[in-house]
Amino acid sequence: MTTIKKAVFPVAGLGTRFLPATKAVAKEMLAIVDKPLIQYAAEEAEKAGIDTLIFVVGRTKNSIIDHFDKAYELENELALRNKDALLQIVKDTVPEGVSCVFIRQSEALGLGHAVLCAEAAVGNEPFAVILPDDLIHNEGDNCMQQMVAVYNKYQASVIGTQTVNMSESDKYGMVAGPKVEDRLAMVDEIIEKPAPEEAPSDQAVVGRYILTPAIFDILKRTERGAGGEIQLTDGIAALRKCEEVYAYSFEGTRYDCGSKMGYLQATVEFALRHEELSEKFSEYLKNL
Ligand code: G1P
Repeated sequence: MTTIKKAVFPVAGLGTRFLPATKAVAKEMLAIVDKPLIQYAAEEAEKAGIDTLIFVVGRTKNSIIDHFDKAYELENELALRNKDALLQIVKDTVPEGVSCVFIRQSEALGLGHAVLCAEAAVGNEPFAVILPDDLIHNEGDNCMQQMVAVYNKYQASVIGTQTVNMSESDKYGMVAGPKVEDRLAMVDEIIEKPAPEEAPSDQAVVGRYILTPAIFDILKRTERGAGGEIQLTDGIAALRKCEEVYAYSFEGTRYDCGSKMGYLQATVEFALRHEELSEKFSEYLKNL
């Protein structure tokens, strides 16, 4: 039985919705309280047993590469000042046994193209894809842990989904298919950003995928779709004609941190849950 050891993080987007904050810094480096989005995503993968993090980066790559690099001077300085807790936080950015791979996506040709850029690093094994601007909070098992459990049982591709308001279907990949068990359905149909009247259901793809390596050859043949981009959704629509693909409605709260509103909601709610801040911050909000 194979399981999931590699995760691909497509982080080459231009982040135009957050300009000028994202002029020189990747949008995935924006912090929710004290941690960048990309690190929440990396930690979710690590907890799910993934040991190889593959970042497909774009023009603001330096901030992401630097974040996952060893920070000798900073570590020395913190050690000299006996700031042990902070030193540990810095060291834990990449835990022992986890390795990082960086790949350049030189042209912004879409999510499907970004995933294809990771082919050589992934090889012939199933892998996860995590879009860091979909931040998911769980009290129990995280979203990728839940999805790896589904993969382990069915040994087939799994897509993370959530119910959305039909009026928002043109912001998501939308899926439909027969129910298999609680929270799990087969994918019969999957369409990228359909108008509400064309959406097959109210189930939207959220940025979590487990894919078999068959997706790579399919993506090579996938033509440009919605927005003139090579869409991962179109690749998955072709994949499900050759293999079973499952839609898993995960447990957890998802914040769309690719939008200002979602980013602010995540900031407030993570601050309210934050060990150091929760009391003071909740007091502050009450008096605001
Ligand atoms: C991408 C996918 C879309 C998915 C969404 C989830 O779209 O193409 O199918 O529903 O992520 O966040 P994007 O938000 O990058 O336009």
